[in-house]
Amino acid sequence: MSKFMDWIDARFPATKMWEDHLSKYYAPKNFNFLYFFGSLALLVLVNQIVTGVWLTMSFTPSAEEAFASVEYIMRDVEYGWILRYLHSTGASAFFIVVYLHMFRGLLYGSYQKPRELVWLFGMLIYLVLMAEAFMGYLLPWGQMSYWGAQVIISLFGAIPVIGGDLTQWIRGDYLISGITLNRFFALHVVALPIVILGLVVLHILALHEVGSNNPDGVDIKKKKDENGIPLDGIPFHPYYTVKDIVGVVVFLFVFCAVVFFFPEMGGYFLEKPNFEQANAFKTPEHIAPVWYFTPFYAILRAVPDKLMGVIAMGAAIAVLFVLPWLDRSPVRSMRYKGWISKLFLLVFCVAFVILGILGVLAPTPGRTLLSQVCTVLYFAYFLLMPFYTRLEKTKPVPERVTG
Ligand code: HEM
Repeated sequence: MSKFMDWIDARFPATKMWEDHLSKYYAPKNFNFLYFFGSLALLVLVNQIVTGVWLTMSFTPSAEEAFASVEYIMRDVEYGWILRYLHSTGASAFFIVVYLHMFRGLLYGSYQKPRELVWLFGMLIYLVLMAEAFMGYLLPWGQMSYWGAQVIISLFGAIPVIGGDLTQWIRGDYLISGITLNRFFALHVVALPIVILGLVVLHILALHEVGSNNPDGVDIKKKKDENGIPLDGIPFHPYYTVKDIVGVVVFLFVFCAVVFFFPEMGGYFLEKPNFEQANAFKTPEHIAPVWYFTPFYAILRAVPDKLMGVIAMGAAIAVLFVLPWLDRSPVRSMRYKGWISKLFLLVFCVAFVILGILGVLAPTPGRTLLSQVCTVLYFAYFLLMPFYTRLEKTKPVPERVTG
């Protein structure tokens, strides 16, 4: 075996990569459960790719046959139902995992110097992931696939001068048609997964260049032993590879329960109107995107003017990109930040969840007002951050991690 590895290592840095990224990558010893979500995101990504490849084998990307081919997968293809449910549940699981992964970043200031690029690559993943989910949703060619895409693509029409041509260019037709379905299929199964995989590699390379943050936000590289190993660091393998298996087992337990017992999740993971084939002449009574888009959809609807709404929705995502430069706090972790930061993060999270709920519901004057209040609170968290993080009193950060 060692002779074989010597042969490989003389030609390819296999052992070096194993050591740099696993057996000699020293991670802080105080990771908590919130650190499971990075490896879980990887797991869900692999699930989506594997089940996606198998679904593609039996799916027909045409307006005439797409809907029926999904029914064929569900009823006639051997184990087709489980492939489809693993993929549809996987899409929602991806967003749950990624939202918790991002929340961990906010909580422990993981986006702060020197991890700005880790955050930026993460945000690019998030952006492409949203495009990936949006395009995937058109493929089953149900009523909500069709009308959801109709609403979102028509938003580009609000852009002055080029809006009309742009929407036509995206659709490839005067209305959403088989042509749109075909190009979304190409992007969903080939182009965007490649981009996501590439970004995930960059995300992890950037992280391993500077090292992981931790719940204390303490820089473990400052205190090293005589061999140059951080005193508060432990080798990722075997310690965290084994620990991550615990996260995987718990996750799979819940994930399988959903796949086997509640794959539609009360209409949130698979929406009811999508069990009816797309019909360009019949608008569903109530159009709402899938739950993971609804906070941004609620921000869009909170603004009365269409163009301003589109700008607000875009800004809600764009502002996350500049987060590393908005936080002026001398400390990273919420454990040592002041009460104003804690309060703002709490209010932001509550506002985000309320926006998510409002985005599912049909608008009423009262709900619109509430969504406007929550939109203001959402932006306040970011736009006031340079001030409250600089002005508030922070607690002293310990020299070593606290366990
Ligand atoms: C496909 C999606 C993603 C995958 C597979 C992924 C994977 C990972 C992995 C394996 C880690 C190291 C383990 C950990 O710290 O949990 C990590 C760390 C990190 N990720 Fe992601 N990630 C994804 C999306 C995102 C997104 C959307 C963001 C934020 C915009 C993000 C921000 C971060 C940050 C800031 C860290 C460093 C955390 C720290 O050291 O405290 N990631 N990611």
